[in-house]
Amino acid sequence: MINKIIKLKKIIKYLSLHNKEDLYFFKIKYLGKKGILNSLFKDFKKIHSKYEKKKIGKILNELKKNILEKINNNKKINKSNNTDINFNTDITLPGKKINYGSIHPISIIEKKILKIFNNIGFNFISGQEIEDDWHNFTALNFEKDHPSRDMQDTFFFKKNNSFLLRTHTSSVQIRYMKKNTPPIRIISSGKVYRNETISAKSNCMFHQIEGLCVDKKISFLDLKKNIEYFIKNLFGNKKIRIRPSYFPFTEPSLEIDVLLGKKKKNHIKMTKGTGWLEIMGCGMVDPNVLKNVNIDPNIYSGYAFGLGIERIAILYYEIDDIRMFLENDLRFLKQFNFLNY
Ligand code: PHE
Repeated sequence: MINKIIKLKKIIKYLSLHNKEDLYFFKIKYLGKKGILNSLFKDFKKIHSKYEKKKIGKILNELKKNILEKINNNKKINKSNNTDINFNTDITLPGKKINYGSIHPISIIEKKILKIFNNIGFNFISGQEIEDDWHNFTALNFEKDHPSRDMQDTFFFKKNNSFLLRTHTSSVQIRYMKKNTPPIRIISSGKVYRNETISAKSNCMFHQIEGLCVDKKISFLDLKKNIEYFIKNLFGNKKIRIRPSYFPFTEPSLEIDVLLGKKKKNHIKMTKGTGWLEIMGCGMVDPNVLKNVNIDPNIYSGYAFGLGIERIAILYYEIDDIRMFLENDLRFLKQFNFLNY
């Protein structure tokens, strides 16, 4: 009996009562007519040995004191209205069905992509959406008169033209490289803004994911293997095509296309009849960019890649209008059950 009481004392000491309901059931359990304390006192009466009675009586009284103290210390819960418990509730009634929300398709694809790169050692870094000209353009080797600096493409802040809404997430990489030394393996994602006409295919705000790897002896082969690994993990065994391209911050620059084929009507439409869909840009980091962030291009080299999440989501879920992502139409959003996530 002594051991039982000691155990109960311990339980009570560490037990925390969170709300009125907890307190109510605690009282019933320990102080109720058929409660623990009453039953212990009944057993106590049956003890004959005076010595035992004295010893157990003392500890049993302590237990009673602990119980009363616990209730006293938690009286505040009783007064506060943090739960709406109505003890007249019929708890045998079946509960109300909970309406789960769903996860936005852009978030689902974002998480999928980040996970793939995370698995091969890319750490997630977030950045800011309001940038200055240097981080968004100059440090990334954009010529002063590069067309994307143009008012038509970039949203500048009226008062002061040196601040803008970032046009790509590459600015996150610049900020990171300025503060850190190689080896660097980062991935970032977020909203980017471009002053484009809104249509089924493009929007003035969309989401990008960009990755950067800088270290000694990083070669073109590392970039190629990285891209192949990514496509395989996201789409399975789809054929890819690597085309030369141009970005100010990479040299050489490439664009990656995925073969969708021409069998489905929407694939023909999405690929403008070629069967190939462009899904990402990439390349070896231009030595000028490394110099701009005080990394020696004679020692280090790197590759970078970037993709639009909407573009991948359209492909993944076969959605034919990019504007659906921002329309908040429940009939659309509910199809992306969080269980498929
Ligand atoms: N920043 C480029 C864009 O917005 C994407 C890109 C990133 C291309 C890294 C090459 C390397 O289109």
